[in-house]
Amino acid sequence: MSKRPIRHTCGDSTGLHHAGHHSTVVREAFDRLADGWDERHGWQSPQAEAVRRRVEYLRAVCRARDRPRVLDVGCGTGLYLLAISDLVSEGIGLDLSPKMIDRAEHSRHRQDNSTCAPVRFSVGAAESLDARWGRFDLVIFGGSLEHMRDPSQVLGRLPPVLKRRGEVVAILRDPRNPATALRRWLRVKDETPWHRHIGPAEFQRLAETAGLRCIWMQPLDAGKAWWSMGAIWPPKTYAAHLAL
Ligand SMILES: C[S@@+](CC[C@H](N)C(=O)[O-])C[C@H]1O[C@@H](n2cnc3c(N)ncnc32)[C@H](O)[C@@H]1O
Repeated sequence: MSKRPIRHTCGDSTGLHHAGHHSTVVREAFDRLADGWDERHGWQSPQAEAVRRRVEYLRAVCRARDRPRVLDVGCGTGLYLLAISDLVSEGIGLDLSPKMIDRAEHSRHRQDNSTCAPVRFSVGAAESLDARWGRFDLVIFGGSLEHMRDPSQVLGRLPPVLKRRGEVVAILRDPRNPATALRRWLRVKDETPWHRHIGPAEFQRLAETAGLRCIWMQPLDAGKAWWSMGAIWPPKTYAAHLAL
């Protein structure tokens, strides 16, 4: 299995790096990772504390919205959607990888659904998002946008999918974080085939180009109050909130 990050450029003359090829590479990579994903990235993994913080954050967003209808784009094994399912009116998880969706379905069946709202998972590409799923109060990208070849194109598909007061919450890795930057500089291989990490300023520009407003950004794993978006030590991940 190749663990090299994918580095695509638009207009590559080889023609290999068009969107279809990119999606195939990403799907195959996540299909291979699906079986061990929760062990390495879930509640019992070394990432458990980060998962807990992100879930707490998303639960607070859901509580503030009073049982939103939620779309989780790039939902993977459904970790986040299942963890907020008791706070939503309906949840739909989409992912490019059929194996990830199989794992998500498996977890859904194991979860006690007595208090949970209907949650469904489906194979689907963010690039072909449209109104067929209806409109949503909340669209989540949990560490998935950085794997997409053209995040601005994907963001551009959101306005028709959002309700009038709908909101997008994207959880992204901040490329300015020194640990992330060092890993990139040393070319430390990452098991997930990320395409490009997007910092807060660039994300804001992409959102505006897509017709969305960036209304709020929040460091997610800052740990200390003085670590903020503009501080000398940017967080590893941040949440960006977008609205129409
Ligand atoms: C790093 S994983 C995150 C999974 C999950 N959100 C989590 O945090 O556990 C990124 C996910 O995005 C999915 N993904 C990548 N590109 C996608 C695309 N274009 N459309 C839909 N899903 C995509 C991958 O298949 C993968 O499951």
